[in-house]
Amino acid sequence: MVWVVCLAMAGIGLRLQGGGGGGARKERLGKYSPYAAERQLTTLEEPEEGGKVGALFGLCNLATQNMVEGKLQLYEGDFELISTCLNDITPEEFGFPPSRDDGKPIIDYVDIFEEKNFTACMFKIPAGSRLPMHDHPGMYVWSKVLWGEMEVSSYDRETAQATPRDKSFPSLPSQALDLRPFKVKTKRDREVWRSEDGVKITTPTEGNIHEFRAVTTCCFVDVIMPPYDFMQGRRCTYYEINDREDGTWARPIRCPADYVTRSLKYIGETVETIEG
Ligand SMILES: *[C@@H]1O[C@H](CO)[C@@H](O)[C@H](O)[C@H]1NC(C)=O
Ligand SMILES: [Fe+2]
Repeated sequence: MVWVVCLAMAGIGLRLQGGGGGGARKERLGKYSPYAAERQLTTLEEPEEGGKVGALFGLCNLATQNMVEGKLQLYEGDFELISTCLNDITPEEFGFPPSRDDGKPIIDYVDIFEEKNFTACMFKIPAGSRLPMHDHPGMYVWSKVLWGEMEVSSYDRETAQATPRDKSFPSLPSQALDLRPFKVKTKRDREVWRSEDGVKITTPTEGNIHEFRAVTTCCFVDVIMPPYDFMQGRRCTYYEINDREDGTWARPIRCPADYVTRSLKYIGETVETIEG
């Protein structure tokens, strides 16, 4: 499947083609100079064709071009461009205005796009429900509330996670799991996020362990790169947080039994792709 870049980004994409390795990355950084970014963002405001969801897809594709063995090194320009683009997309364009909610007390999940190197999805959480405490090992997540209010609690590891494994992987799946509790520090304590708060970024080290609780029924988008991939050591773990005398601990647990989602079809703006 080949993606079609809309907008002026196409020029950037083409100039980068044929490059490879660090050289191409430098070239790309050049294109992400503040000037280039401004020019691009001006264009994003008036998409000529394709639309903003297509532009978001294109930016994600560019940002993940130089991934080495599943490890992603992002630059300031990547964060800002993706944030600005995501921030600009309306619930209608994503196909999930409040009117789509059928009022059922169930968590809805919608895949916006799903690629090898990045994904975007939406959740609608009914008031009072929550996405249980979970993590995104080695991943970056851009989150934006489309409507409603949610309360976010997040934690950072006190000490960096040991590199999951080296090239000697694959090992048995059971060996891939480290279920020992570890110490964490609080990053956000029941912080309320609304649409007007814009895009919030989770990195491999900041806010990576988090829980989203709906204050009112709410809907938010997550743009994730790289995606969960069990074989690359990027599996989703759920946690219980315990405050103890010696500090706050995160203890891996099974996926909570009451956490159930209903998958809904994506009906927003589509990303144009050509079968190839
Ligand atoms: C995924 O990322 C790798 C590493 O950056 C890149 O070589 C590859 O082309 C990407 N895959 C797709 C489908 O774009
Ligand atoms: Fe998350």
